[in-house]
Amino acid sequence: MAPLIDPFARPISYLRVSVTDRCDFRCAYCMTEHMTFLPKAELLSLEELTRLCSTFVRLGVEKLRITGGEPLVRKGIMTFFESMGKQLGNGLKELTVTTNGSQLRKYAAALAEVGVRRINVSLDTLDDAKFAEVTRWGRLNQVLDGIAAAKEAGLRVKINAVALKGVNEGELFTLTEWAAKEGHDLTWIEVMPMGEMEADRLDQFWSLKDLRARLAERYTLTDLAERSGGPARYVRLEETGQKLGFITPLTHNFCESCNRVRVTCTGELYMCLGQEDMADLRAPLRASPDDAPLEAAIRAAISRKPKGHDFDYSRQKVAGQMTRHMSHTGG
Ligand code: GTP
Ligand code: 5AD
Ligand code: SF4
Repeated sequence: MAPLIDPFARPISYLRVSVTDRCDFRCAYCMTEHMTFLPKAELLSLEELTRLCSTFVRLGVEKLRITGGEPLVRKGIMTFFESMGKQLGNGLKELTVTTNGSQLRKYAAALAEVGVRRINVSLDTLDDAKFAEVTRWGRLNQVLDGIAAAKEAGLRVKINAVALKGVNEGELFTLTEWAAKEGHDLTWIEVMPMGEMEADRLDQFWSLKDLRARLAERYTLTDLAERSGGPARYVRLEETGQKLGFITPLTHNFCESCNRVRVTCTGELYMCLGQEDMADLRAPLRASPDDAPLEAAIRAAISRKPKGHDFDYSRQKVAGQMTRHMSHTGG
């Protein structure tokens, strides 16, 4: 079967699937405090999600990342992981998840069991009070315990920290040293202008150019050529051997090598995180047990994947802002 290639000759091999819009946290850059969640009937069932993802795998997707909201709060989610785990080695090369870590004590061993090897956990601060402030509803200890459970289960953990001026600026070295001590990779992310922009969001933008310069005052940084199939670029800290990732949608756009699309929990296929255009896959999925219309809808959508996003904080006002919340597409 012909693989998925977009108009800019980029092969699409990475699918991010949001399995729920719900989350047990309310990170300010991701959701409003009082979110209205979708009625459960609108969500794709776990069977539909499996059929949809299997179709993408047949069309050449090799890496599947399960996101949310918080994917591990979706009821029965392990049956979906089990079905997709069975496809590892059969076209699918990697099955993984991005999680806030709150449910990992419960699920880490089961995830390892179905073939998940590494997971990404969002953690912006190691300070109790700041953690409560950023996540509004989260408890730091529960997440640290979840991360410990993942390590015990043999999962590799990559920590995702959103760089936030005035919030975790003072923790650049604390987080780096903690991750090194625990044996976790760490990736810093520039905050993207999505969802409701509270007044202080612009002030919170912390460029990774600046973060990198501050790291270089203490460590020797060597750029690495390796990629993980995601948007991060990596460096090694020579003094510790530790690997750090940088995701820089604002200061160093990585769209030219984009290999991914995302599907929401209601079956909307977004061709780019930073653009509004989407295709409804739920209708063809529900219209027929035959996968041909679904495949055709996917191919038609990929044929109009845009070149990239227009996020920009560098002018007087924020450009390229998305009113859509990050939790809608799962990052
Ligand atoms: P790895 O497989 O470990 O490389 O993970 P990943 O970086 O692909 O996934 P993760 O879920 O950890 O995402 C980290 C951050 O990258 C999130 O803030 C995402 O929103 C962001 N991200 C992922 N893909 C894209 C993209 O296509 N465009 C933009 N602008 N950001 C992205
Ligand atoms: N900008 C950058 N990253 C974000 N995330 C959520 N919202 C934003 C945003 N506005 C991150 C989370 C998680 C990943 C899926 O996306 O911290 O690590
Ligand atoms: Fe939940 Fe992750 Fe969004 Fe925070 S960033 S509210 S943990 S989905």
